[in-house]
Formats: sequence, C-alpha cells, structure tokens
Amino acid sequence: MKQTIITADVLDNTEIAPGIFRMGIHYPEAADRVRPGQFFNIYPDADRLILPRPFGVHAADRREQVIYLIYEVTGEGTREMAEKSKGAKVRVSGPLGNGFDLQEAREGAARENRQAPVQTVLIGGGVGTSVLQLLAEELLAAGTEVTAVLGFRKHPFGAEELRKTGARVLVSTDLPQEGVYHGNVCGCMEHYGVTGDLYFACGPRPMLKAVDEYVRTHGDDRALQVSLESRMACGYGVCLGCSTPMLEEQENGQEMIVRKRVCKDGPVFRGDEVVW
Ligand SMILES: Cc1cc2nc3c(=O)[nH]c(=O)nc-3n(C[C@H](O)[C@H](O)[C@H](O)COP(=O)(O)OP(=O)(O)OC[C@H]3O[C@@H](n4cnc5c(N)ncnc54)[C@H](O)[C@@H]3O)c2cc1C
Ligand code: FES
Repeated sequence: MKQTIITADVLDNTEIAPGIFRMGIHYPEAADRVRPGQFFNIYPDADRLILPRPFGVHAADRREQVIYLIYEVTGEGTREMAEKSKGAKVRVSGPLGNGFDLQEAREGAARENRQAPVQTVLIGGGVGTSVLQLLAEELLAAGTEVTAVLGFRKHPFGAEELRKTGARVLVSTDLPQEGVYHGNVCGCMEHYGVTGDLYFACGPRPMLKAVDEYVRTHGDDRALQVSLESRMACGYGVCLGCSTPMLEEQENGQEMIVRKRVCKDGPVFRGDEVVW
C-alpha cells in the first residue's frame, strides 16, 4: 500500500499563541472529503527527518479548498513547518484515519419524537482542542447542541473561532488567567455542571483518562469517543509502529485484549475500548 503525497501551497502560517501556529494548505482533493478527527501527514523537507509528522485537521474551507492544521513547535519537524511563509510548498498526504463517528448524533438529532435536542460535549486539551472546530461545525449542522470545554496550560487559543460556530465554549487553564476557569477540564465541567448525551475528546492521554472517568461517573462510557495520539512511522497502517492494546468484545461476550493501529484503526476509539 502506498500513500499519495502531494506538494501543496501554504496559504497561511500564523502564530496564534506562543509557539502555536495555524497553517492553511491548498489541498482540493482533501478539503472536500476530510472528516472531523482525521489527520494529515506532513513530510519534512530535511532529508535527515525521515518520518512524516501527523496533525489532526482543524478546519476545512470547502469553497476555497483549503485545509487548516494547528500545531505546536515541539521539535525539528514542527520548527521547519513554522519557518514556512505564504507561498512556500509543503509535502502532505491524507486525510488519514477514521475520524469521529457522528452517526448516533445525526440519528438522535433527526428522531421525530425527541423531547429535547441531543447534547454533545466536546473536550480538548492543548493542541488537541484544534480538532474540535470542524467537529463542532458538523455536529451543529446535524442539529445537536454543542458545548466545548477547552483546557490549556497557560495561553488559550481558538475559543473565539469556536464560539462563532454557535457552540457554547468554556475555557480552563492550569495557571490562573483572568476570566477563565482555573483548573483542568474535568474540574471545569463539574463547576459548570456539564453533561451530555454524547462526548468527544482529544488531548493528552492523562486528560483523556480523566475524561473517561468523568463520563463513567456521569453516565455511559460507551457515549465517549477519544482521539488517541501515538508515535507514528508510516501513518497509514503498514509498519505497526503505532499499535496499542485495546479491549475487544468477542462473540461469546468476553473481552479480550488485542492490538490496534492508532493510525489506521483509529485515531478515534470508544472510551470503553481503551486500556487506560
Ligand atoms: C493522530 C495524531 C494527530 C496529531 N495532531 C496534532 C495536532 O493537531 N497538532 C499538534 O501540534 N500535534 C499533533 N500531533 C503530534 C505531532 O505529530 C507531533 O508533535 C510532531 O510530530 C512532532 O514533530 P517534531 O519533529 O517537531 O518533534 P520530534 O520530537 O523531533 O519528533 C520526533 C518523532 O516523534 C514523533 N512524535 C513526536 N511527538 C509525537 C506525538 N505526540 N505523537 C505522535 N508522534 C510524535 C514524530 O512524528 C517524529 O517521528 C498529533 C499526533 C498524532 C499521532
Ligand atoms: S504508524 Fe505505521 S501502522 Fe500506524
């Protein structure tokens, strides 16, 4: 299996918070079909940086045929990306992975005898908040009500863009900041009494584990979908470098631990599948 890698134009690459960039890439083949929770591989220019770097899709402008990524500069690959200005070229492939499953949200919202709107809760941590933009747009278009809870260490970003979709947006930070909840996303959800019918989360693994516990406490763990991160090599299912233990229900009803590929079988899994 081979991935198609295209060389695309960078249309925008703006620092939106310290060390956090938003890159717009002209990619017509992908902008039309990318779904929330899928990701793209960016191939570094420098020969010594062999492996592609994966990034979840932040937004897609279907009319202008642009995809947007938000990334944090953490090493050589992302440093190289940050140096690109408008008009530069970038090698990219995708969309990859399975993305969030929105079927239950769509069916629930379309049910005729429903008494109240389907409540969806979107939870993000750090750069993991980036994927909530396209997700919120699609859940709102499906007719659900959306509450997004964003957690940051110090400098929030993306909240205003998310509010423009019509979502209710709550922000928390680990370090005290004026006007936002001081603490983590679960504390924030407790504080504001946030519960929902369906939950979607993306962020660091300890945050996802805490969200899983929160959802178990407040309802049904099967209602949670999490987007996992893992070190990746190929990014499209062939090297097994990203495989991780997951619970799988067998035909006899028993659960077994099997290995799944985060890149190809995920990166989105149900909360109750993950071996935390
Ligand atoms: C499915 C998925 C979606 C992601 N989405 C985003 C996003 O939207 N925004 C964002 O800022 N970051 C995201 N990441 C993490 C991002 O891929 C890494 O931060 C980036 O690859 C680091 O590259 P680097 O060369 O700057 O750092 P280096 O540390 O020099 O990278 C060295 C190697 O480790 C890998 N690597 C390093 N950190 C990670 C990590 N956390 N997860 C997976 N591989 C890693 C790189 O691919 C590379 O092969 C995502 C990761 C995955 C798996
Ligand atoms: S990164 Fe190669 S199989 Fe997932």
